Amino acid sequence: MALNSEWIVGRWMVILVTVHLFVYQGNGAKSPTFSTPSSTIQAVVGDTVLLPCKVVDLGNYLVAWKRGIAVLTAGTVKVSPDERLFLLDNYNLQLRAVQESDAGDYACQIATIQPIEITHTLQILVPPHIEGFSPEGSLEVEKGSRVQVDCVAGGHPEPSVSWSKNGRKMSSDARLELHNPQKQDAGMYLCTANNGVGIPASAQLELNVLYAPDVNVSNNWIHAGDGSSANLSCIVESYPPAIVTWYRETKPLTPTERSETRSTGHQYWLMLHHVRSSDFGLYTCVAENRMGKAKGTIELSGKPHRVVFTSQPESRYKDRYTIAWTVHSLSPVEEFKLLYRRSSRSLSSPHSTARYFRRFDGSNNTVADIVDNWSEVALRASQSWERDAKHETSFELKGLEPSATYEALVQARNKFGWSQISDTFHFVTRAYDPLEPSEPNFHSEPEVRGIGVRALSSTSSKLVLVSAGLPLITLLSFTGVFYGT
Ligand SMILES: *[C@@H]1O[C@H](CO)[C@@H](O)[C@H](O)[C@H]1NC(C)=O
Ligand SMILES: *[C@@H]1O[C@H](CO)[C@@H](O)[C@H](O)[C@H]1NC(C)=O
Ligand SMILES: *[C@@H]1O[C@H](CO)[C@@H](O)[C@H](O)[C@H]1NC(C)=O
Ligand SMILES: *[C@@H]1O[C@H](CO)[C@@H](O)[C@H](O)[C@H]1NC(C)=O
Repeated sequence: MALNSEWIVGRWMVILVTVHLFVYQGNGAKSPTFSTPSSTIQAVVGDTVLLPCKVVDLGNYLVAWKRGIAVLTAGTVKVSPDERLFLLDNYNLQLRAVQESDAGDYACQIATIQPIEITHTLQILVPPHIEGFSPEGSLEVEKGSRVQVDCVAGGHPEPSVSWSKNGRKMSSDARLELHNPQKQDAGMYLCTANNGVGIPASAQLELNVLYAPDVNVSNNWIHAGDGSSANLSCIVESYPPAIVTWYRETKPLTPTERSETRSTGHQYWLMLHHVRSSDFGLYTCVAENRMGKAKGTIELSGKPHRVVFTSQPESRYKDRYTIAWTVHSLSPVEEFKLLYRRSSRSLSSPHSTARYFRRFDGSNNTVADIVDNWSEVALRASQSWERDAKHETSFELKGLEPSATYEALVQARNKFGWSQISDTFHFVTRAYDPLEPSEPNFHSEPEVRGIGVRALSSTSSKLVLVSAGLPLITLLSFTGVFYGT
């Protein structure tokens, strides 16, 4: 008992005395044994853990808990000053609010002559956390350089770390490596650490790739008419952001009350109001940052848009076909040029028109012409014109061969010049004419003959044949029927 009271006196001191001092010699008694085995115990930070130590036949021996050389308890007396430690049911050791530093071996020892002990290994599970990136901070790299970032994560057990970008895995370890990064590699990269304890931890890293501007134009050809407005736009991507300047021909554009520049996101606009003939020409947007510069060029033109064909690709007849098209022009269309010829190709096969484009582009279209068996028809349109009207024109080709494939091209001219040549249009003639007039299938179809020009506006219109090409054109006849709506 004297010994016990000495221990009580000393309970607030850290006593580094081993329990060997308290050896008791029990004569004839059975040797004490443990009824609980050594174990490994896992706990999450903050948990309360119980380290069991049950002893059989203790006799007068003393039981002590030790951690390394520190004595935590001796007998039923708590020696350690740690307020989180408790002895329960004699020798079970309870540890509350465990911390990472509590991890380690705890021995429950019986102070026999040859002391015996069980050892519990306490593992503290620590949810993952991300300590940071190496190198630190947001990253700016030049296009084509090399990027290497380590994601430093902690936790117990050691978390597995991976990188992803927009949900796509970029690396399955802590190191993110990019060789030759491009602008599309810029963005938010997510580092995720997971060790199965708690929820995975993640942190974002912003990567910026420095590159010279990349410029596209939404439309490299913009149509306008006298007094209309026009929107020219360039799409600019760059990092760092570029300064965008507009040029007309080679001169920087000076702002006037008729011009206005704007930008939203990647899109840069040049808006021209009350366009005049003198505004037509080439406009260039030049985008520049410290990595370089790039430009996009747009033509502002008064010429008509390309013609678009509207007729069905199959004729109802074996020897004639009514071809129809529309054209969009903000200034009155004065003339059309129609080219057609028998095509050796079937309707479905793809086809290049490059060869004859060159022959006709930029021609004055004064007379009919035949090149490579093309027949050319020049048609003068004379009509009152409504702004923004889409003009539909039709023309009947006669003297065609039955069961044949033809190809056709049309160009339109207004006072500003000729439109670009249309895409090639293919049509086929029938082997036989339909049985008229009792053929029920054809009753409902309106018959269109001759040359017709129909403006979708409510004006009447006229079309005058100017001239026609030589051999095939003799087979054509023009009935001079004009359609007005
Ligand atoms: C021109 O661009 C502006 C964008 O600032 C837009 O609001 C406007 O509708 C555009 N006009 C046309 C005709 O596209
Ligand atoms: C320009 O167009 C190209 C090809 O379509 C595309 O790869 C590029 O991203 C575009 N650039 C911009 C700035 O829109
Ligand atoms: C257009 O006509 C003019 C005068 O008739 C002529 O000098 C010029 O060469 C012609 N251009 C073409 C491309 O035929
Ligand atoms: C033009 O037509 C003639 C006879 O009609 C034909 O022999 C010739 O091959 C054709 N030329 C081309 C380039 O189609």
